[in-house]
Amino acid sequence: MSFKTIIEPFKIKEIEPLSVTTEEERIGYLKSAHFNPFMLKSEHVLIDLLTDSGTSAMSSKQWAAMMDGDEAYAGSRSWLKMEAVIKDLTGYEYILPTHQGRAAERILYGYLGGKGKVFLSNTHFDTTRANIEFSGAEAFDIPVEEAKHPMLDRPFKGNMDIKALEEHIIKYGAENIGGVILTVTNNSGGGQPVSMQNAIEVKNVCSKYKVKYFLDCCRIAENSYYVNHREKGYEVKTYKQIAQEMFSLADGCVMSAKKDGLVNMGGFLAVKDKSLADACTNLLIITEGFATYGGLSGRSMEAIAVGLQEVFEPDYLKYRIRSTAYLGEKLYKMGVPLIYPIGGHAVYIDAKAFYPHIPVEEYPGQAMVCELYTKGGIRSVEIGSVMFGKYDEDGKLIPAPNELVRLAIPRRVYTQSHIEYVIEVFELLLTGKEKVKGLKIVEEPEFLRHFTAKFDKI
Ligand code: F0G
Repeated sequence: MSFKTIIEPFKIKEIEPLSVTTEEERIGYLKSAHFNPFMLKSEHVLIDLLTDSGTSAMSSKQWAAMMDGDEAYAGSRSWLKMEAVIKDLTGYEYILPTHQGRAAERILYGYLGGKGKVFLSNTHFDTTRANIEFSGAEAFDIPVEEAKHPMLDRPFKGNMDIKALEEHIIKYGAENIGGVILTVTNNSGGGQPVSMQNAIEVKNVCSKYKVKYFLDCCRIAENSYYVNHREKGYEVKTYKQIAQEMFSLADGCVMSAKKDGLVNMGGFLAVKDKSLADACTNLLIITEGFATYGGLSGRSMEAIAVGLQEVFEPDYLKYRIRSTAYLGEKLYKMGVPLIYPIGGHAVYIDAKAFYPHIPVEEYPGQAMVCELYTKGGIRSVEIGSVMFGKYDEDGKLIPAPNELVRLAIPRRVYTQSHIEYVIEVFELLLTGKEKVKGLKIVEEPEFLRHFTAKFDKI
């Protein structure tokens, strides 16, 4: 018997109170934060959907393991546990711990990158692109065509364009390719999954031209769920077996354990090749820490070892994917325009379609982010021209391709009633949307402006 209601497959042992504020108070807080929710105090936020990264609730088994953390500088027992779990999952021989994903990226892409090198990905996440470009190399996104159509219902919109991959390798020369990076799931592309068939085709092209192939695997368990449910032949395999198969295709991986590691901090780099591992270990020791902790405490490594196993539990993954889809599908039925189908970790709203009267120069995504906070105390993030917009020579905005708002769902944190509340806030937003006005930027830094830019209402 299968029931319609998908319950949270856990019960609550410890609670963290939410701070309830009034709309009037929130108007004041948002004004003091210059209409930029990154500058809000989290204690003024009711439901925080800013990110799914590092925001997971840990299990009693993770907390119990943490008590047994071995804080030895070298050869820590906790490291050996974490290493064994990652070796079993990835099949890679060399594992390097790091304090989070971008530290692993800096080491790997800093080493393989440099001037004249080129990296290719279904979509580089911002920190991935930043680390590659910081090394002097170039990063090109080559998602499949269907990824560019937000409402098109296709099972694997996270895939890489194989034809474009081969064309880019030929154009830039195989010897200049620093690496090919398959991001699973594709975060910047709407949290959409990548099929095993695509991962195999990427491997075939990389093998043909002898270029290095890496997975950015921070949401690999969520991706495995989709492969199991959407790709023929994989329904008989476990989520972990599917992940293992995908890892076996690549030369290595970079992981931010803050997502599918179910922890608040941590990451790693893992590779098959000894000489690459040796070079990266040198960089690790210089900047992160000794090879058996890499900037992590023993207790954090214990939590990762347990989290990386729990994340593949079928009841957890079913709840995870279905509960994100529940929010997205309800909003979709209410007429909220969004990226469809719903991805694993977040719902991406099309703010330009929601507020057609707000021109992109007045940042419809930022307007929605502010409305969600003022009306409901919900924090979300703009992924549009505030984040990716540039200026031309005359100071005119070159807008981003889309004006999106991301509602990222922390793992195991919110219950269905929290989500029902979010849906209700959207009902409120729908009723008064014609009256909502855009914003202008009054102060901004040179790089990554979305974190600290100051806005004013128009
Ligand atoms: N790769 C992907 C696909 C990511 O989503 C992130 C982080 C990273 C790498 C970097 O990992 O934060 O541990 O250094 N994404 C977060 C987000 C920040 O909100 O999507 P990190």
